Amino acid sequence: MDYPRRVRIYEVGTRDGLQNESTPISTDAKLDYIALLRAAGLREIEATSFVSPRAIPQLADADAVMAALSREPHYGVRYPVLVPNMRGMERAEAAGARALAVFTAASNEFTSRNIGMTIDESLAEFKPVLQRATALGWWKRAYVSTAFGCPFSGRVEASKVVDVALRLVELGADEICLGDTIGVGVPSQVQALTKALTEAGLPLDRLAYHFHDTRGTALANVVAGLENGVTCFDSSTGGTGGCPYAPGAAGNLATEDLVYLLDGLGIQHGVDLGGVLGAARFIADALGKPLASKVGQAGGWNPATGERLI
Ligand code: COA
Ligand code: ZN
Repeated sequence: MDYPRRVRIYEVGTRDGLQNESTPISTDAKLDYIALLRAAGLREIEATSFVSPRAIPQLADADAVMAALSREPHYGVRYPVLVPNMRGMERAEAAGARALAVFTAASNEFTSRNIGMTIDESLAEFKPVLQRATALGWWKRAYVSTAFGCPFSGRVEASKVVDVALRLVELGADEICLGDTIGVGVPSQVQALTKALTEAGLPLDRLAYHFHDTRGTALANVVAGLENGVTCFDSSTGGTGGCPYAPGAAGNLATEDLVYLLDGLGIQHGVDLGGVLGAARFIADALGKPLASKVGQAGGWNPATGERLI
């Protein structure tokens, strides 16, 4: 099979992983967690969210987290932050962010509940945000959530996803990330969406996927992405995560499960499995939860020697 030789792993554990957790995690513990992720080789770590603290209380310390990260030069590491509006942009800028992610969806029913805006309204809100970020030279990602299905309106047409994605590109997004927010997608959908987007003119290196493993299809979907030339996948160390505004949105794809798969396929990514497992245990302990990931539970395995790695 003709897979890409190298892919990017975009870590969302500190944002998506924590946003749905009610056990309070201190700012210092978040910074220690990020340091472990960095030490494991992760180079894109979505650090926090500049959203309303009422909407996501766990990330109410976004200003302090980002300010601490921006005080230290972490060469080669990108810390995108979630920004829903100009207010969030101003906070992100003041805290020293250099990369952001805006987020809308492929269904109005979901964006209305998540950010209180229709898709059109969200794009109008993002326009000045993305303009400002462009003027500052920031890297800009845009999420299209519910790209595989919506918890409120059900089926989502690929043409709708393409339409929203292209409008975000027009507004200046460098990368489009399609989210399977409630983990309903299957590989044939990944293939169809990837084809639809590339045929509409989006280069493959500007496309990323964000799979939730709610129904156990996340890794199969990654393989479908790889087969179709996709080179960026999101994951959350420990498999934590979910959106409080999406009923049933349990579990991001775990970074350790993704790393294990990519290692076995011989695809380069620069991330160390042992380091990721250490970070996963750290955050699982802090949350008082068992590890949700398969590799976290079973340990790594060297297929050449039969040696259990961790
Ligand atoms: N940062 C901090 N506070 C903000 C803010 C921001 N970026 N944007 C708005 N607020 C505050 C307002 O000041 C207001 O506060 P108040 O009630 O104390 O006066 C409150 O939030 C509501 O603001 P409003 O402009 O009326 O918007 P809203 O209630 O429709 O909320 C969002 C809109 C986007 C701010 C809110 O829905 C949100 O933050 N959603 C994020 C959801 C999320 O992160 N989901 C998971 C990621 S997929
Ligand atoms: Zn997610």
